[in-house]
Amino acid sequence: SAAEKGGYDYFMLKEIAEQPKAVADTLLGRIGTDGRLSLDEVRIPDAVLREAQKVVIVACGTAFHAGLIAKYAIEHWTRIPCEVELASEFRYRDPILDHRTLVIAISQSGETMDTLMALRHAREQGAKVLAICNTNGSTIPRESDAVLYTHAGPEVAVASTKAFLTQLVACYLVALYLGQVRGTKWGDEIQAVVKELAEIGTQVEEVLGTMEPVRELARGLAGKNTVLFLGRHVGHPVALEGALKLKELAYMHAEGFAAGELKHGPIALIEEDLPVVVIVPSPRGRSVLHDKIVSNIQEIRARGARTIVIAEEGDETVVPYADHLVRIPVTPTLLQPLVATVPLQVFACELATARGNEVDQPRNLAKSVTVE
Ligand code: AGP
Repeated sequence: SAAEKGGYDYFMLKEIAEQPKAVADTLLGRIGTDGRLSLDEVRIPDAVLREAQKVVIVACGTAFHAGLIAKYAIEHWTRIPCEVELASEFRYRDPILDHRTLVIAISQSGETMDTLMALRHAREQGAKVLAICNTNGSTIPRESDAVLYTHAGPEVAVASTKAFLTQLVACYLVALYLGQVRGTKWGDEIQAVVKELAEIGTQVEEVLGTMEPVRELARGLAGKNTVLFLGRHVGHPVALEGALKLKELAYMHAEGFAAGELKHGPIALIEEDLPVVVIVPSPRGRSVLHDKIVSNIQEIRARGARTIVIAEEGDETVVPYADHLVRIPVTPTLLQPLVATVPLQVFACELATARGNEVDQPRNLAKSVTVE
């Protein structure tokens, strides 16, 4: 009913709008005033976490994209090798697992059969499994050794939005916690990130306040057949997520690429007026990546692409090459997906609406996939 949708036309719009709160709720009580993390509900003893030799993340769809981003954070902050695998592929390749492997299963519903089968396989091999889940008491957390709940509240729309942002927050918390218990790189950089993470809800709110031009842009593209998404580093999974949202909701051909792969093939797809969304990393920090992506934007624009550039406030270098410029707040590199994904959700939702599609119940899809 309209009341359930809180005055919004679709659950998806309501859930997009709820993201600042969902993010704040997921952080609540988990970061102390001294900047130290307490994840008491994670019952896996610190000793086990300290000894883990490898992290393996299993998930499907949007949750898999959260896992891809988590890998950057876990490896950078803790130096523990981390693999991310589609849950549906995992057990069929006889993965190497033992009691020193920490498996993280990410699932909004907690009922995804592929993810459940992957975690059962991992536990049979002696690995410890930590679930990151949004649904209290669902099967995946019940069958795991421990669970870190995301506090997004019920997600009704089939397309995952607020659950994704909170999965990212949970992944960052786990990565930071692993860093804390292992004492690796627990220095100024991490302290600064923890501080920024605690404030990130405000920045998500800021992004939500500037989405009208994105909606207008989406409406103008309703007649297109294809949209490409490019990103590097954590922007690559963001590109994959932007493309998945568009497939699910707008039924358009959408693909996400690592921008560095362009010249290895995808650039052949570029033609006159093809919309290409580019997620630009911060010019600070890893500025090499920033400069490389700016040349990618130039390359595709020279071949006629209509460039839709998502870039940090104050990044002026992209201005001459952006047909459309979407600004996002300044964040630490690893946290950028929390703000960069939001315009892509709004974009997909508006395009679906403009094409007359059913936003909350896309064709052929179920909210949780309980069969393999
Ligand atoms: C997201 O928009 C999708 N509907 C889908 O990819 C989903 O993320 C995937 O099926 C995993 O679901 P889960 O998080 O409930 O396990």
